[in-house]
Amino acid sequence: MRLVFMGPPGAGKGTQAKAVAAHFGVPHVSSGDIFRGEIELKTPLGLKIRSYLDTGALVPDEITVGAVVGRLASPDCGRGWLLDGFPRTEGQARALDAELASSGARLGAVVYVDVDPEEIIRRMSGRRVCPKCGRSYHLRHIPPRVEGQCDACGTGLIIRDDDKPQTVRQRLATYQEQTAPLIGYYDQRGLLVKVDGSGTPDQVRARLFEQLEDAVERA
Ligand code: AP5
Ligand code: MG
Repeated sequence: MRLVFMGPPGAGKGTQAKAVAAHFGVPHVSSGDIFRGEIELKTPLGLKIRSYLDTGALVPDEITVGAVVGRLASPDCGRGWLLDGFPRTEGQARALDAELASSGARLGAVVYVDVDPEEIIRRMSGRRVCPKCGRSYHLRHIPPRVEGQCDACGTGLIIRDDDKPQTVRQRLATYQEQTAPLIGYYDQRGLLVKVDGSGTPDQVRARLFEQLEDAVERA
């Protein structure tokens, strides 16, 4: 199973993608998580990309493609993967096509999580994340069992650096300009599964599984 999750920042891609990846038994590969991991460890790559994430710009394709496609070559990705937040430009989509062609594999579906901009701002302004395992919470909608602590590993929750209002606005603009055109790119190829991302996480998940199963059966 090879799936792509796309949609505006804060739409709930990560929240849903983790459950879908676990259901299909494939790794959840999030380009944002890969980048935040490099920044946290202060690796040479992390130092190079920090300013892009801080300002809400995209990391250049040559860096992103190397990092993400490199990850797909790991043994645990042999049976498939779920890509969250990649591709985000036409160049990245073409690089993924080339990678799939060279390994004789194909995409099962591209899930597009659609949420309106006001709801996105509400979701991102209440987000808290676990710096250790990456799980995300929402102060009001998805609170942790113990305030300020990750349910899974007990680590103290933090606010993501790029969730400041001015950076959120820039991320939304970057999305509209560079990533939204990919909706048409995948729709033309018959791969797009557009899911209404409004409502509670459980409502979204139920809707998503139903649509995804239909799409996978048709494929
Ligand atoms: P990335 O980490 O991919 O961030 P993003 O796309 O901006 O998306 P988010 O992770 O913010 O949101 P999400 O859709 O995963 O929502 P979540 O589930 O957390 O990228 C970060 C940066 O890295 C980019 O800006 C760029 O610089 C760089 N980058 C990454 N990939 C790149 C690429 N391919 N090319 C170039 N640069 C790249 O949910 C959001 C909040 O809402 C949470 O608090 C959650 O608990 C809550 N929530 C979720 N679902 C619901 C619900 N149904 N109801 C209420 N609340 C909900
Ligand atoms: Mg995410």
